[in-house]
Amino acid sequence: MSGRVEGKVAIVTGAGSGIGRGIACLLAQEGASVVVANRNEENGHETVSQIRDAGGTAVFSRTDVIEEASCAATVALAVSEFGGLDALVNCAGIFPRATLVDTTRELWDRVLGTNVRGPFFMCKHAAPHLLARGGGSIVNIGSGHSYQGFPNLVAYAASKGALLNLTKTLANAYTRDHIRVNMVLPGWVMSDNELSVLAEEGLVGEALQEAIQRTPMARCQTPNDAGWAVVYLASDESINVTGTVINANGGWMIVG
Ligand SMILES: NC(=O)c1ccc[n+]([C@@H]2O[C@H](COP(=O)([O-])OP(=O)(O)OC[C@H]3O[C@@H](n4cnc5c(N)ncnc54)[C@H](O)[C@@H]3O)[C@@H](O)[C@H]2O)c1
Repeated sequence: MSGRVEGKVAIVTGAGSGIGRGIACLLAQEGASVVVANRNEENGHETVSQIRDAGGTAVFSRTDVIEEASCAATVALAVSEFGGLDALVNCAGIFPRATLVDTTRELWDRVLGTNVRGPFFMCKHAAPHLLARGGGSIVNIGSGHSYQGFPNLVAYAASKGALLNLTKTLANAYTRDHIRVNMVLPGWVMSDNELSVLAEEGLVGEALQEAIQRTPMARCQTPNDAGWAVVYLASDESINVTGTVINANGGWMIVG
């Protein structure tokens, strides 16, 4: 433990699995008290156990980011449990595949509700507490699809593009208040949900390994690849950094 975020309080949504769990564990490893905010309770408690077993500090807050009251309650819990809030990481996200004509209104609302409205609610309720600390850090987890989506990721790409613009808009709104708002773009991470979505598309086994080999660095990326970028943005090391995007995606934005 090197204490890069020692003494800070951080909320991580979607911390029950995959990239969010990796981020929560790294923040705790670096000294933060972490609120593990997740819709799935069992997974959230598992993340808390992993953090505590490693000597870190964490609590679980059952959170459905689609619901404003749930987001407000999670922020309130962070403040009551740990005395304030310094960092918010919006990582909860869903990525069901669907082309334009296959995207139902229900799917559109669910994807936009989770991936954009959720971060909006979390930011809205976190901001007063970040202000009370004299500033803080918001990190939104985007995607390469924030810039240009695949044909079968229409709603997802729209949601992540909107999240990028929300990031820049809030960075602009809160510069004078020292609330820094940035985005991290993970690469292709084989989280359980990503693997099950890929399996539904028939991308498994050798075909999946070949697809990984075709990525720019020919490696399977891990939650920590994005997690270390989040630690930097949550820490005072990035005190002068706001409104920016860190590509932690192994060259995907350069090579494609
Ligand atoms: N896996 C990738 O290749 C990849 C690439 C780029 C960006 N991302 C982004 O990273 C983030 C995490 O992806 P992941 O692959 O780790 O996914 P994941 O499914 O493993 O993790 C997402 C977590 O969010 C939780 N969640 C979903 N809806 C929620 C809601 N309404 N309220 C609260 N929690 C909710 C889930 O329970 C889950 O624990 C997402 O925003 C995703 O878009 C993933």
